[in-house]
Amino acid sequence: MNRKELIRKYIQFFDSKNHIEIKNSSLIPENDPTVLFTTAGMQPLVPFLSGKNHPRGKRLVNVQRCIRTGDIDEVGDTYHHTMFEMLGNWSLGDYSKKEAIEYSFEFLTKVLNLPIERLAVSVFKGDKNAPKDEESAETWKSLGIPKDRIVFLPKKENWWGPASETGPCGPDTEMFYWKLNDKPAPKVFDHEDSNWVEIWNDVFMQYNKDSEGNYNEAKQKNIDTGMGVERTVAILNGLEDNYLAEMWNPLIKKIESISKKSYEGNEREMRIIADHVKAAAFIIADGVVPGNAEQGYVLRRLIRRAIRNLRKIEVPILQMDATAKIAKEVVKIYNDYAILKDNKNKILEELKKEEDRFQKTLDKGLKEFEKMSKDKNIDGKESFLLYQSYGFPIEMIKELADEKKISVDEKAFEKELAKHQELSRTASSGKFKSGLADNSEQTTKLHTACHMLNEALRIVLDKPDIYQKGSNITPERLRFDFNFDRKLTDEEKQKIEVLINKKIQENLLVTMEEMTLDEAKSLGAQGVFDSKYDERVKVYSIGKFSKEICAGPHVENTSELGQFRIIKEQSSSAGVRRIKAVLE
Ligand code: ALA
Repeated sequence: MNRKELIRKYIQFFDSKNHIEIKNSSLIPENDPTVLFTTAGMQPLVPFLSGKNHPRGKRLVNVQRCIRTGDIDEVGDTYHHTMFEMLGNWSLGDYSKKEAIEYSFEFLTKVLNLPIERLAVSVFKGDKNAPKDEESAETWKSLGIPKDRIVFLPKKENWWGPASETGPCGPDTEMFYWKLNDKPAPKVFDHEDSNWVEIWNDVFMQYNKDSEGNYNEAKQKNIDTGMGVERTVAILNGLEDNYLAEMWNPLIKKIESISKKSYEGNEREMRIIADHVKAAAFIIADGVVPGNAEQGYVLRRLIRRAIRNLRKIEVPILQMDATAKIAKEVVKIYNDYAILKDNKNKILEELKKEEDRFQKTLDKGLKEFEKMSKDKNIDGKESFLLYQSYGFPIEMIKELADEKKISVDEKAFEKELAKHQELSRTASSGKFKSGLADNSEQTTKLHTACHMLNEALRIVLDKPDIYQKGSNITPERLRFDFNFDRKLTDEEKQKIEVLINKKIQENLLVTMEEMTLDEAKSLGAQGVFDSKYDERVKVYSIGKFSKEICAGPHVENTSELGQFRIIKEQSSSAGVRRIKAVLE
């Protein structure tokens, strides 16, 4: 069974169980300052896992593209990937744990026809926060999974979330498949034996972790599941190495032809190259370009690490539009992703540009590294120099050091970094890890204020073609970018504030309606009309003042907002102005 077929069968199966398919969202979370990337199918659903009504109902299913950078050092083995697809089904306060497990079992054994002899599961062992998950174990037994193939494990293994510090989380049950074809599965399941591949995870989101570390019983009990497409396709095709499967193999073949080397003997390098270029192509398609902060910096690191590995397998520097050549294959493999097709030229261009930039410094930096590393470890100042002057990502410095069997003082590097404030603090904060959306009250309010600002700008500046070029909200402030080619006068800024505050005081109701994209357009709803919208969209109205396509969340009434104040107005880039504002 191939990738497309697996995805189709999964969606069809859950459709037959009354689930509604939702869209495969952008890798860049909308209005979510706490995370850089979408790391799981549940992430765009956080407001709904926290109790908001989802317009599509309580049973949802989809395939979601995801990026995880937490395991970047693991990439190079047979099954870790930076970009992967996750199949998921959700119950928003609807069906039970038992039903969820029964669905999983039916799909695995009846649709995928996996033999029960090769299945095993883990369930939560229980601790002071939550009891032992006997119910899951009993359900598995009733379905025919033998006792020896059910293992009880602690929180470290069998608990999922919260993906950041706080939010919905709970015990989970994980499903494993014995991947060896020539050796029968052992009678007793040993989860540490890597021949058992984890393919699916059913999370019982019954708790909410608060900022003090307490696990509070959640009002709404959800089911959140995640099946790894790459791993599942590999096992369905009897492959012990994911990179031999159809969504990787053409990339490996391309790398073989570029380097004139074979995969055998160069597996690690070729996997890293394939993995990083694929992730980079998807990230660029979702609107990011290489840079020195946030998503742009992750992207830069991925591309540069891919280039460094191309060098390791001796691809000559002048042949270095290699990443673009590999990316072309990515676009072919995932021809069901319109964003890749539509952004193909941009992907290739950005990769080429980044290769050019990196090549200029790579050799010099490598020479510098050789000098630094003569019989000694790399200290903070040295690694920072490599980073700052030669653009070496820290992982690459670590890799170079590993090869020489010397160490890098990473803590000292982080200190240097913070001192120079060259990089957004994100790099050293938890934002690189996976995380939940911050749908705090304050960001929700600022989000509604963003819509009001969007409208107020058009009115006050008397330019109906002003639209949003970007936005970013933290609990402290909103940032809004729009197309306009000059500085705003003090009078204009004041008029904007007065208008918004007047509207806030009118206690306008904020309402949401779902409709087709065409209907939304014909109603004059604001939106950034590119490919990122679903066929059906949500339109938020603030009284009669504003109408905008958006996923939410928003306050219910403008009276909740307080006083709107602009704290800064500046240029963002050519023809784009940026406003920062607060609610007081
Ligand atoms: N959110 C769960 C995971 O990522 C399903 O494994």
